[in-house]
Amino acid sequence: MKILYGIFSLGLLSMHLAQRVEDTRALNSALLTNYSRNVKPKLNQTEPLQVFLEFQLLGIIEFDEVLAKLSVIAVTFLYWRDELMTWNPEDYGGLDVFYIASQKVWTPNLVLVNTVKDIKKIGFGDDW
Ligand SMILES: *[C@@H]1O[C@H](CO)[C@@H](O)[C@H](O)[C@H]1NC(C)=O
Ligand SMILES: *[C@@H]1O[C@H](CO)[C@@H](O)[C@H](O)[C@H]1NC(C)=O
Repeated sequence: MKILYGIFSLGLLSMHLAQRVEDTRALNSALLTNYSRNVKPKLNQTEPLQVFLEFQLLGIIEFDEVLAKLSVIAVTFLYWRDELMTWNPEDYGGLDVFYIASQKVWTPNLVLVNTVKDIKKIGFGDDW
């Protein structure tokens, strides 16, 4: 099965209105200081991390019964709680939404198996 996937990146910019850039900078540095994307985002590292996956099938591109091939377009959404990236909005001028590039944070490793061609990583670019 060949699956095309789309990952949405919301970009590096915080888009909260009427915020001071100082608050955004302070929050950015507070969140990323000592943060490593190689560390599972749990305060207690022995506890498992729950990752929720949502798969939205957008369309079927091709179905070939002889080759046993099904091509689809789909979007995968992943949700989890990063316990190492929390803050109190009152400390940052009420800033309660912060957008950050996926390459900077821990992300689960996902691969797509059983493809017609080669096995592909699911994620943003080649960076796990
Ligand atoms: C980062 O880690 C160092 C060494 O453990 C610690 O002294 C420092 O307070 C930490 N900084 C933040 C912002 O957590
Ligand atoms: C971490 O989680 C494990 C498993 O839930 C638990 O046994 C342990 O007591 C926890 N450690 C701390 C320091 O809370």
